Amino acid sequence: MQEILDAILSGDATSADYAALALPESYRAVTLHKDEEQMFAGLASRDKDPRKSLHLDDVPLPELGPGEALVAVMASSVNYNTVWSSIFEPVSTFGFLERYGRLSPLTKRHDLPYHVLGSDLAGVVLRTGAGVNAWKPGDEVVAHCLSVELESPDGHNDTMMDPEQRIWGFETNFGGLAQLALVKTNQLLPKPKHLTWEEAASPGLVNSTAYRQLVSRNGAGMKQGDNVLIWGASGGLGSYATQYALAGGATPICVVSSPQKAEICRAMGAEAIIDRSAEGYRFWKDEHTQDPREWKRLGGKIREFTGGEDVDIVFEHPGRETFGASVYVTRKGGTIVTCASTSGYMHQYDNRYLWMSLKRIVGSHFANYREAFEANRLVAKGRIHPTLSKVYPLEETGQAALDVHHNKHQGKVGVLCLAPQEGLGVRDHELRAQHLGKINAFRNI
Ligand SMILES: NC(=O)c1ccc[n+]([C@@H]2O[C@H](COP(=O)([O-])OP(=O)(O)OC[C@H]3O[C@@H](n4cnc5c(N)ncnc54)[C@H](OP(=O)(O)O)[C@@H]3O)[C@@H](O)[C@H]2O)c1
Repeated sequence: MQEILDAILSGDATSADYAALALPESYRAVTLHKDEEQMFAGLASRDKDPRKSLHLDDVPLPELGPGEALVAVMASSVNYNTVWSSIFEPVSTFGFLERYGRLSPLTKRHDLPYHVLGSDLAGVVLRTGAGVNAWKPGDEVVAHCLSVELESPDGHNDTMMDPEQRIWGFETNFGGLAQLALVKTNQLLPKPKHLTWEEAASPGLVNSTAYRQLVSRNGAGMKQGDNVLIWGASGGLGSYATQYALAGGATPICVVSSPQKAEICRAMGAEAIIDRSAEGYRFWKDEHTQDPREWKRLGGKIREFTGGEDVDIVFEHPGRETFGASVYVTRKGGTIVTCASTSGYMHQYDNRYLWMSLKRIVGSHFANYREAFEANRLVAKGRIHPTLSKVYPLEETGQAALDVHHNKHQGKVGVLCLAPQEGLGVRDHELRAQHLGKINAFRNI
């Protein structure tokens, strides 16, 4: 492993040098153990502690298959799916691995008694499998997390429609929270040259998701001048949605839960910011009953910022707690676009406000390769920036996941894998200098 790291740190190793490096038989990885699936049974979600379920193990190197790449991972990041996996909610991820394993002898490799997590990486290609021409050892890359088989016609207009669509490192094994990772080469994208390893590893999953959900025609298809209500606007997804709204000539109305988070939204350039804690919204009177007066109060607050207009788009992901309000505050003909249900997936809303006002609810999930490419291209050009607030070593991934689980973080939380320290991997210092303030915006608050 040290030779691999030395080659990367030297900055001048050639593709042939990388191809000649011996591969280790095992590597360190953040894992879940199948025999611990029930360890949190009976506990409230909040009390399920990722530090107890996430392990740092030596695991054997998987065999490289056709169309795949083995990548030396310099850095990764924590996503909310790391939290879901680590608390075994809403289901244990081992069920995903078992199902995937039934597909073919090659996918059988994924069905193991341990699950290497992680749906982001920045690193260097070490080996490519049969049939790979577009990538070679030594390429500096990031990986998006869409894993598809594409053997059915369904996915050929939009790969997210493939019946065998999975999220790498969540529904498949050999993820990015490790020293090495196995990906399909159609997950690879060029690493933005002006970013450090940990910065480059942080946008991937949330940036691509926000791009499809808000910008792409497969999502809300945001246009100039739109008013966009963004829940959790300084969080993983929201911090990218806010940047896309601003960069695309729309007006983000950012909802956050503290003055610090409001400050971050201001640093991104947003002006309309609602602190939901300070406003004290209670959309649910009790477990079964919502309070439409509270929806209306939110709508009134939004109109204060927009000169009386309602929102064209709601960027939804909190789910049960906010969905009734989201449907209510959307303008006639507007779109509620949802990719998640953090607070509960059984949503309740008043359908009269949907059909009478011709609103649309659009489901969105991750992104296809093209959308992930577009989202990464904007990062590489310095138009969209990483939102990294804190970085942990691989050994402390459990703590990193707990921060996200308890909503104590801002933007994204990074993890160093092979990288011995932060700040390495920048190849374009000029572009970096132009955007340094924005790149560090989430660190300085
Ligand atoms: N389908 C997909 O492809 C996809 C991709 C990425 C993420 N997701 C899902 O999307 C969700 C958010 O992910 P993320 O990375 O953005 O997580 P995150 O970094 O934790 O940010 C979510 C933000 O939502 C806000 N929030 C949480 N609970 C809320 C509630 N009950 N009411 C209002 N706001 C609430 C919080 O902001 P404030 O406290 O500041 O309001 C929080 O910072 C997760 O469930 C995740 O699994 C889905």
